Amino acid sequence: MINNIELKDKNRFNELGSIINKNFAKLYQIEELINSSYDSLLGYYEKELLVGFIHINKMYETIDIINIVVDEKYRRQGIATSLIKYILNSYNDVEKIMLEVNEKNQDAINLYLKNGFKEINRRPKYYGSDTAIIMERDV
Ligand SMILES: CC(C)(COP(=O)(O)OP(=O)(O)OC[C@H]1O[C@@H](n2cnc3c(N)ncnc32)[C@H](O)[C@@H]1OP(=O)(O)O)[C@@H](O)C(=O)NCCC(=O)NCCS
Repeated sequence: MINNIELKDKNRFNELGSIINKNFAKLYQIEELINSSYDSLLGYYEKELLVGFIHINKMYETIDIINIVVDEKYRRQGIATSLIKYILNSYNDVEKIMLEVNEKNQDAINLYLKNGFKEINRRPKYYGSDTAIIMERDV
């Protein structure tokens, strides 16, 4: 089941976020994100447990995927795909969806390619010494 993430999920949200970045809880404060009119946090729940989430930022007709993560035990079951699809179906004014991904993160690149994203640019040394691939798809 997909739902908006609530403050009660803070610990689990930060736990999943720490898979992406060890400073996650400092960089992405759930209180701010929940109250922001530009950000949305959607969680994928197995019973009551938050097992994955997507964080997006919406500016006019463009959505940016900021973070997407799924608990290791729940991967390859289509959870990330269903979170992306949910976002695609949630707005009727969106024209474009964009993201940046580390060129070494092949799992994520495969996920995005499978969901219709195409590489539009590269930013060298965006993640320390690693290059970022900028991807986009029309909605
Ligand atoms: C990337 C991530 C979100 C994918 O989540 P997921 O729920 O396992 O993804 P899905 O089950 O929807 O996978 C969809 C497709 O993506 C590709 N894919 C996903 N994980 C893959 C892997 N480990 N190896 C190869 N392809 C993979 C496959 O094409 C897959 O389709 P298939 O299972 O039918 O072959 C997950 O691996 C994750 O949380 N990684 C760590 C965090 C991260 O890197 N996030 C992205 C940057 S913020």
